[in-house]
Amino acid sequence: MTSQTERSLVLVKPDGFRRGLTGEVLRRIEAKGYTLAALAVLTPTREQLAAHYAEHEGKPFYEPLVEFMSSGPIAAVVIEGQGCIPGFRSLAGATNPTDAAPGTIRGDLSRDWGTAVQQNIVHGSDSPESATREIGIWFPNL
Ligand code: RTP
Ligand code: MG
Repeated sequence: MTSQTERSLVLVKPDGFRRGLTGEVLRRIEAKGYTLAALAVLTPTREQLAAHYAEHEGKPFYEPLVEFMSSGPIAAVVIEGQGCIPGFRSLAGATNPTDAAPGTIRGDLSRDWGTAVQQNIVHGSDSPESATREIGIWFPNL
């Protein structure tokens, strides 16, 4: 039996897109050896964000997070390659950009801006189940 190649859903969030860091994020993904399976630029709707962040509904940062994520265009990307789900999480670094190690996307490219929610450049799926669910939200025809 052949297993399907692993895929992960990456978002370059509005802070990363606004700062012109989409190319840098894609460069790191490709330099690591993962391939791009789909790519789109769009401004998220509240419906897409409610589906994407359903697990966080009710948490104190949920409303500021949805507000931030709908504040401008993002790049939605499906990446492909064995191990790319944990592999991209390693490339991204810790959620809090102040704690994220140098060498990671968040550690190198982001900081605490004093905003209500952590602006940390990228999202990456955290499990195969999340990846399948999230790819369906952003790329329903894939
Ligand atoms: P992501 O889902 O974006 O890949 O990030 P993550 O797994 O590292 O973090 P998660 O716990 O899933 O949180 C989702 C996003 O919400 C924002 N956040 N802000 N206390 C805060 O200010 C706070 N906590 C979470 C971040 O943008 C985080 O990436
Ligand atoms: Mg998460």
